[in-house]
Amino acid sequence: MRDLSLDLLAWYDVHAREMPWRIGPADRKAGVRPDPYAVWLSEVMLQQTTVAAVRAYHNKFMGLWPTVSVLAAAQDADVMAAWAGLGYYARARNLLKCACKIVDEHAGVFPETNDELLTLPGIGPYTAAAISAIAFDQPSVVVDGNVERVMARLHNVHDPLPASKPALTAHAAALTPRLRAGDYAQAVMDLGATICTPRNPACVICPWREPCAARAEGTAAELPKKTPKKKVPTRYGIAYVVRRNDGAWLLETRPEKGLLGGMRAFPGTDWSEAPQPDPPLDVAWTTMNDVARHTFTHFHLELTIMTATIGPEDTVDRGYFVEKAEFNPRDLPTAMRKVYALVDATLRDN
Ligand code: ADE
Repeated sequence: MRDLSLDLLAWYDVHAREMPWRIGPADRKAGVRPDPYAVWLSEVMLQQTTVAAVRAYHNKFMGLWPTVSVLAAAQDADVMAAWAGLGYYARARNLLKCACKIVDEHAGVFPETNDELLTLPGIGPYTAAAISAIAFDQPSVVVDGNVERVMARLHNVHDPLPASKPALTAHAAALTPRLRAGDYAQAVMDLGATICTPRNPACVICPWREPCAARAEGTAAELPKKTPKKKVPTRYGIAYVVRRNDGAWLLETRPEKGLLGGMRAFPGTDWSEAPQPDPPLDVAWTTMNDVARHTFTHFHLELTIMTATIGPEDTVDRGYFVEKAEFNPRDLPTAMRKVYALVDATLRDN
């Protein structure tokens, strides 16, 4: 049977998307190798985040910390602040742990194989496969949501995800070529992102339109099927926004474990069905009319915002003040940025 990977690679030679960390197919053929550090950073950022959102962050990180050794020497708080807004903050903590391990145990050089990469913090099966393929041209089987969709359609798999994942992975493995494995891995992802899209796939211009079993059956747009997810619950909390009368903001660093772990945030209650008020000081509080809403993977969060302004004589039993000139809302995770935006809007109105 014809090697389908060749048709996809020929399409990629013409249509590869440009990305800051990517060495395009022409340069790769000319012998230019990707920087494994840049590839690793991009793949960690791309877990659960779109290419469009990652571009600016990747450029920022490469500017601040151009090599893995420079990153390993960075302050944890600086890395967390630079990551703010990307979400899933465990990724940022693992980033620094991984950089340190590469410097301490691998002489600052990224290992090349799937198995070695899997031993590093924050690198799971997807990321190990992606790095070993893209940075080192190993014929690893790279399976993300794009690849699952492409395989489900190419082979007209109607069993729903996640149960069908092993079958889709087996299809992906059967197609992965020995040569140009890095280009191939990126080609399937690009195909899924630009042509074999979740809605309205552009089958007429697809390099795999002839062999695609779902296209032949007219079922492409309805695949992959998914087992319905449980309904997402809502949790509630209170965010306490305290300003000192010189403009400083009261913040705290959240515990390492748990949501927004290690990030700076406004002090608050726990997030639950019925949070217990737990104000960080005994003063006159104002409750804002607007609530801040943010959706995490497993729940929606609604934060009631209570504000207070205090004098220098008031003592606070939680957190620390960040001077007005040092306070940058961009360093906050998105849920807290939303709280800040609502407070900031009322400050402007008054
Ligand atoms: N999604 C995740 N990694 C990617 C890559 N290297 N190319 C295209 N899309 C991706």
